[in-house]
Amino acid sequence: MEIKKGKKVSIIGAGNVGATVAYSLAMKGVCHEVILRDRNPDISMGKALDMSQAANAARTHTVVKVAHEASEIADSDIVVITAGSPRKPGMSRDDLLMINAEITKEVVQDVKKYAPDSIIIMVSNPLDVMTYVALKESGFPKERVVGMAGILDSARMAHFIYEKIGYGAGQIRASVMGGHGDTMVPLPKFSTVAGVPLSDILNKEEIAEVVERTRHGGAEIVGYLKTGSAYYAPAKATAIMVEAILKDTKQIHPCAVYLDGHYGHSDVVSGVPVALGANGVEKLFEMTLNEEQTKQFAHSVESVREMINVLKEKNFFD
Ligand code: LAC
Repeated sequence: MEIKKGKKVSIIGAGNVGATVAYSLAMKGVCHEVILRDRNPDISMGKALDMSQAANAARTHTVVKVAHEASEIADSDIVVITAGSPRKPGMSRDDLLMINAEITKEVVQDVKKYAPDSIIIMVSNPLDVMTYVALKESGFPKERVVGMAGILDSARMAHFIYEKIGYGAGQIRASVMGGHGDTMVPLPKFSTVAGVPLSDILNKEEIAEVVERTRHGGAEIVGYLKTGSAYYAPAKATAIMVEAILKDTKQIHPCAVYLDGHYGHSDVVSGVPVALGANGVEKLFEMTLNEEQTKQFAHSVESVREMINVLKEKNFFD
């Protein structure tokens, strides 16, 4: 009897983020197979063997392999795209726009051809725009293209809150919406420490400092690493999304999704709370925002739209 195919996750781009996603999935046994696809198959082979062996040590069932041909991503349940040029010190996420849009376009053609029923999780920067590019180039329904950022940005905010107060680690629920860029919208009013509102724990100035540090959380790490950007938290955030989809948990996470009139915005991608399940984005939640939050969210959405317009002006989508 033939063994029924298990859950398969392909990861395009096996650099620090992609490889760490694979490792997180393997250590938890989230899926049966992880396929790495990278321009450098030898390094990927080394990483795949190493991780498959780690999975045996951890006694999980995940096997990590390398796709030497694009066709080997066939039948993937999820394709995670991390391929792209990383952000260098002093480089904004937006500088990467054209370079990474071209890379995304190429990768998505393969996904469309070989894994047409998959769900795409976009990780490359500038995140919201790349999610939009993946959606348009794949022609997939909007439920099946989702970007990773909100879980990461919220986790960063939670950590910065912890650093301010020195207790409650792991109990802090921070909320961030909007694009994954300097205009992201941290929402201290919707943030709590074990249910205690943040405003009852920190004063206005302290909250403002947390908000500012969250907005530049990625750049802070680039400043230390010098030759690359963060990968442990981005990878864990991605693995959480993979798990929610494969296990059909319907858990609610902030993710970058296509807005179709939601929050008053259309034909653009931004970060909002959504329920993730077997069908991808199963529900989008529209929170009641106050005037200031509405304004900040609109500003964030517009900064993403400007980049989409740059691509449109260059006839990128034609
Ligand atoms: C970050 C980069 C990867 O936020 O966008 O760390």
